[in-house]
Amino acid sequence: MFRDLEPEALDQLCRYAKPTLLKRGATIFAQDDPGDSLYAVISGTVKISVSSPDGRNAILNLIGPGELFGEMAVLDGQSRSADATANANCEILVIDRRDFLPFVRSQPTLAMKFIELLCARVRGTSEQAARIILQDLPGRLASTLLRLTEKRKPDPESRPIAITQQEISEMVGMTRESINKQLRAWAARRWVRLEHGSIVVLNESALQEFAEAGARERQLRHLPLTVLFDVGAYKERPPASARPDR
Ligand code: CMP
Repeated sequence: MFRDLEPEALDQLCRYAKPTLLKRGATIFAQDDPGDSLYAVISGTVKISVSSPDGRNAILNLIGPGELFGEMAVLDGQSRSADATANANCEILVIDRRDFLPFVRSQPTLAMKFIELLCARVRGTSEQAARIILQDLPGRLASTLLRLTEKRKPDPESRPIAITQQEISEMVGMTRESINKQLRAWAARRWVRLEHGSIVVLNESALQEFAEAGARERQLRHLPLTVLFDVGAYKERPPASARPDR
């Protein structure tokens, strides 16, 4: 994001950025808080999530090293769109909105980069909505694992995805038990390796095929839109015939 800045501008930005250490579980901000800072992750992972009044959680994204978050409220002046929590011990950079806004106004190339980042967020959200509507549960799990692996390229096999099965269930909208059953079936086929608190994708093409097949099957079932948009319905629809055992 900042790599095309002139050295002078980069120096200025570095003067604004305050390095901060966070313990796993620390709240960085909550949904609806005012957006007074922009954040960059140096190490660790930050969880972006929303919760319902009855206490259910949905994880929208996991932000890793080199990525930014908190740009939306900083740029539009509205409140935070989601919660941000340290998902591991983290080192982050914090840039005050009062420093950042005049800076980005003076740097058109950087402003374009932020437009690209916002476009990527919209694309990500559209893909997430499409997954929920078009894919069955195992297909959603396969494409979520692939998306998380994609971020770890070029060497995904040596880069386990640090995520618990509970967190996967909050990303995919499946119960933890269904996630566990499906992952164990894939582990038996050596498509994934399950480690304590992490998962390694071993066979991307098998998961890719599975994700695409899941979407096709779901489309063939011609579910009415009223059913597709029913949150309860997407939370735990029974998988297509014998899917977990494939
Ligand atoms: P902001 O609204 O300031 O605070 C929450 C942050 O989470 C938001 O900025 C983005 O940086 C990030 N965020 C919100 N929604 C999503 C999403 N759907 N996918 C990825 N990141 C998001």
